[in-house]
Amino acid sequence: MLSRQDKEELLKQHSVMIWFTGLSGSGKSTIAIALERELHKRGLLCRILDGDNIRSGINNNLGFTEADRIENIRRIAEVSKLFVDTGIITIAAFISPSNDIREMAANIIGKDDFLEVYVSTPIEECERRDVKGLYAKARRGEIKNFTGISAPFEAPAHPALTLDTSALSLEESVNKLLELILPRIQKK
Ligand code: ADX
Repeated sequence: MLSRQDKEELLKQHSVMIWFTGLSGSGKSTIAIALERELHKRGLLCRILDGDNIRSGINNNLGFTEADRIENIRRIAEVSKLFVDTGIITIAAFISPSNDIREMAANIIGKDDFLEVYVSTPIEECERRDVKGLYAKARRGEIKNFTGISAPFEAPAHPALTLDTSALSLEESVNKLLELILPRIQKK
């Protein structure tokens, strides 16, 4: 089998895992999508994994108990590892609510390839946006184990980058990411 290095040479890029963590509605997927566009413009190949393509497909048998969240993230990390090993810049946007869960993901993917980005938008702002109406439902008790309301979220201790989308524009967030990532992924 050809190696990761062979594929990175073909693609003229170095692969990396960009792992977004943060509350529902914090802006993880929005930033991931904007980042992918910027990298794509520069001729860099990316793959986004988020709730829309993972929880509706490969993980459609999983809910939000602690055990299911662990299994959700385990499968996402295993899939991500395949993409990273194919030389592809891999971007995951999942709540991944605990240090243990993110540590598991980093161990599966490999710590050297794992860049943790904390989207730290405060819960008040996420709840005010309530894009999917889920915070209102969680407050009414119609959704159990809702992260930030009735299930815990642990902020990461040492993320590579923290982005608060209540203070930064989308462009500012993406620029900070590009500054961090481009030196790692561009082949000389
Ligand atoms: S994780 O905790 O297992 O990492 P994941 O990112 O895949 O979560 O899914 C979170 C998304 O599922 C939320 O943005 C929200 O749209 C939806 N969701 C449905 N039920 C819950 C819940 N109980 N807690 C958090 N998110 C939920």
